[in-house]
Amino acid sequence: MTTSRVEPLTWDSDFFGFSVGRVIGTRFTSLEEAMATAGEARHRRFRCVYFLADAADSPTWAAATAAGFTPIDIRVELSRNATVEDAPANLAVPGDEPALRSIIGSDLFAGSRFYRDPHFGSDQARRLFEIWTGRGLRDDGWFTAVERADGGIAGFVTARIRHDHNGSIELVAVAESARGRGVGGRVLSAAMSELIRRGTRDITVVTQGSNLAALRLYADHGFRVTSCGLWFHLWL
Ligand SMILES: CC(C)(COP(=O)(O)OP(=O)(O)OC[C@H]1O[C@@H](n2cnc3c(N)ncnc32)[C@H](O)[C@@H]1OP(=O)(O)O)[C@@H](O)C(=O)NCCC(=O)NCCS
Repeated sequence: MTTSRVEPLTWDSDFFGFSVGRVIGTRFTSLEEAMATAGEARHRRFRCVYFLADAADSPTWAAATAAGFTPIDIRVELSRNATVEDAPANLAVPGDEPALRSIIGSDLFAGSRFYRDPHFGSDQARRLFEIWTGRGLRDDGWFTAVERADGGIAGFVTARIRHDHNGSIELVAVAESARGRGVGGRVLSAAMSELIRRGTRDITVVTQGSNLAALRLYADHGFRVTSCGLWFHLWL
């Protein structure tokens, strides 16, 4: 029996309306392995397959590219052990959803791989981030910290406590007109306070290696890089 190299992703497949999978593991040991993975994906009729490659292993990138995978994004994960944050959070309520959506409406997350990969289309990418924003208002263990200004919302951070009890910063967004004035930093501190209040100290966030504003924001707030990977997409 041969071992499967691709696992199906149910949520992504339902959302995009076609079969999406993900390569198991982060390295290809040879071009043959990369080609066999692409062949398996084709045989099992996946339309799109994600592959998060180890950024330290350049032979893997070469094998992935030769097998038809396209590099899409640099994934950087950062984390910190938070102690005291003296910044009580102002939490969003469901009635804030239109204001939150209007902040992300202008393709605010255009650096993400779903926007960058033209196969998905910006409407679907935007819808993905709208769903994510809604989860911060409704799902158990999730919340959204906001900074309010002039009767609206200047910026927000959506966060959650994961099943392993660690905290995760999911979305960070500041309205274009309010950027560069510390809103991102204040609302991030408020979200970290809320995570600590809810009992977690280890906090993780993921961003793109090209997102200098986000990387500087997280570094300013004590986050350190813990891993770096390259996202590839294979379309069939
Ligand atoms: C990232 C973001 C939340 C920062 O919000 P902000 O309120 O402008 O941030 P702050 O004013 O607190 O500044 C944070 C740091 O980013 C830097 N920064 C802001 N805009 C920048 C830019 N365009 N390029 C490089 N650095 C930038 C600031 O100088 C500051 O760093 P410093 O203290 O070392 O000088 C905002 O740019 C944004 O909403 N971007 C689009 C959404 C996004 O990328 N979210 C993160 C995805 S994980």
